[in-house]
Amino acid sequence: MREPNIYGSDTLEQEGTPEFAPAAADLPPWGKTTVVGAPVPRIDGHDRVGGTAVYTRDIALPGMLHAAIVHCPHAHAMVKRIDVTAAKAMPGVRAIITCDSPEAKIPWILTGQGAFSQLLDPHCRYEGEEVAAVAAETPLQAADAARAIVVEYEVLPMVVDYEAATKPDAPKLHPMGNQPSPTRTSQRGDVQAAFAKADAVVERTFRTPCEPHVPLEVHGSVAQWDSGKLEVWDSTQGVYAVRDSLAIAFKLPLSSVRVVSHYMGGGFGGKLELGKYTVIAAVLARHTGRAVKCATTREDTMRSLGNRPANTITVKAAARKDGSLVALDASLLGASGAYPTGATSGYLFLDLYTCANVRVVETSVLINAGQARAFRAPGYPQAAWALEQVIDELAAKLGMDPIELRLKNIPTVSQLRSGQPYTSTGLSACLKEGAEKFGWDSSRKRPAGKSHLKRGIGVAAGMWGSPGGPNATVILKLYADGSVNVNSGAADIGTGTKTIFAQVAAEELGVPVERVRIEYADTASTQYAPSSGGSQTILVNMPALRTAAAAVKAELLALAAEELKQDISKLSVRDGNIEIAGDTKKVPFSALRSLGQRQQLVGVGRRAPHPAGRVALPFAAHFAEVEVNTRTGAVRVVRYVAAQDSGRVMNALTFENQVLGGVTMGIGFGLTEQRVLDRQTGKLASGSWHDYKIPTAMDFPVDFQCLPIDPQDTECNSTGAKGLGEPATIPAAAAIANAVCHAIGARVYDAPITPASIVNALASKGRK
Ligand code: MOS
Repeated sequence: MREPNIYGSDTLEQEGTPEFAPAAADLPPWGKTTVVGAPVPRIDGHDRVGGTAVYTRDIALPGMLHAAIVHCPHAHAMVKRIDVTAAKAMPGVRAIITCDSPEAKIPWILTGQGAFSQLLDPHCRYEGEEVAAVAAETPLQAADAARAIVVEYEVLPMVVDYEAATKPDAPKLHPMGNQPSPTRTSQRGDVQAAFAKADAVVERTFRTPCEPHVPLEVHGSVAQWDSGKLEVWDSTQGVYAVRDSLAIAFKLPLSSVRVVSHYMGGGFGGKLELGKYTVIAAVLARHTGRAVKCATTREDTMRSLGNRPANTITVKAAARKDGSLVALDASLLGASGAYPTGATSGYLFLDLYTCANVRVVETSVLINAGQARAFRAPGYPQAAWALEQVIDELAAKLGMDPIELRLKNIPTVSQLRSGQPYTSTGLSACLKEGAEKFGWDSSRKRPAGKSHLKRGIGVAAGMWGSPGGPNATVILKLYADGSVNVNSGAADIGTGTKTIFAQVAAEELGVPVERVRIEYADTASTQYAPSSGGSQTILVNMPALRTAAAAVKAELLALAAEELKQDISKLSVRDGNIEIAGDTKKVPFSALRSLGQRQQLVGVGRRAPHPAGRVALPFAAHFAEVEVNTRTGAVRVVRYVAAQDSGRVMNALTFENQVLGGVTMGIGFGLTEQRVLDRQTGKLASGSWHDYKIPTAMDFPVDFQCLPIDPQDTECNSTGAKGLGEPATIPAAAAIANAVCHAIGARVYDAPITPASIVNALASKGRK
């Protein structure tokens, strides 16, 4: 319901977010830590793998009904008539809503230009659009009744090819045409003049596929009404964002909406927004006075619930003989799907390398397919795919090593943010130390050999441009027995946020990790936190927790000083004890009478604003070795080093997990994943994991090393962490593409690199 939140574009820097003064002065940098950074296993690991963790789908409320949705089977159609007579009479059916119902009009996809659709819209703009819903006693009764609803459609002309959708005679999805927002140009300097004076120029066009979201846990919600208050359990990255959108949809005060999201099986950006399934559950719950669960299917996620949009990117890049970049000119076309949303990101062109003359032209176009959503670094992997391959070609043209060329153009300031310096930039360290660890120089010189199995190595760099929204509040309570409760609205989307909360509390307050409990992601009982997206969860919430913990520690030490008749400066906390300098005696927190009398100490922490005049962002460089079978076209990634400057490593295990997952997604983007829509019908032809290949452990390189580069950033925030989830995937596919080119001496410009595209590249090389 909110403006679509694809924050790949640099409009989504959240610089409009007001920053408030911190509750207390910001804490000094940590320096060396003992619990933070350690490989602490997930505190909820056993619950997750043992099956006792309660995910949204596991929620079973008393009297709960089950919803089923009727989806339009056409890529573009108008509902002419809906007949629910038969469905209504079926066993177990308790409520039916259709696009004729009053609630169907709840506005959907609100943008600056108004609403583009409604909850149940008779004008269906893609296969899978919702036209009716049923609530019944069991999931099967609901599904049967949904099938019994008769819908007559008038089928309309459609377009699913986004390049074709830009043509004037293309079928139109909305009255204003297929391009609701004007083409956006960002530029500095004079690219034309710079090209004229350059020593080497490369211009190439790249295509990247649409990738549907495929989180292990599919989307879904449970809704119920409690005397006018709407309560929702949702698989979401942001309970507060969903609450806000639900309040708009149902015209309720924020205080009358409660959203809970406990265990999450992945979001990746596909669960940042309110879903229609949530509102449908709430509407059916209101009709029946019962709780309603609306669970989606794998096919729904692949058709309707968000994707990484396909891009076509043309890049022209120029450099001088010494390798300094002088001009970058990029034009990007992205496929938004059936509703408007930014489908490209020009950020990397504008800020990854020092370059005085840059122009980026971005256009997003509508097609008759499910709407794009944020997807792990929205727009960046597509841009890296193009930019990092062109940089490689430029290096070849100049006769330079690709790493040398990149090192020649490392920025120390953000050109996009008016030349402000970075708090730290580990980009050159990522490139140098990564190359060292990878054995770049010796591997690069290895002779090709006569075998049909060709090895090659490639590098690519990346950065993430969103510093995160600063607002967050965390409450920490220390109880009389020395145990601790941390309270935050942040969702743990599977990345280990809860574990890191426990580590930060333990570090700051001197308690064992096992004594810390986390209460989270419930708008009724936990504090405001921004959505767990944009790689901001740690760097926004942990400084707030540090402040809360420090407040409790100060109060505890004051109590202890008085009770133990010691000078406060001699006291410190460790492992749940008060320690006294020069004295071996330790006093457990639980032995303090004054703590027992108070029952609890409470600290409220807020996140301080971003450092003024500075930009804090993460960087990465990835190194891949591939083996290409020139007889079959098969590509295997055999060796990999991922160097990540995300600032401080908060947990050695979760850090490596994030990088491993990011590289896995890069392998999918580079080699196997591709949504296929039938051009004749517009229908999804890759709607299952049989036809849509995400990588598995079998596709992951056996020889994999995650190399954290910690620049010891003391300015970015009070934890020194800069965000990891998204930068870990940005350069991966491009590094693989560069390695493939090095292996076979021919370049593939379109992702994914399939056996067929390898064969074509080899054939065109042969023709040259
Ligand atoms: Mo993400 S695409 O910031 O969840």
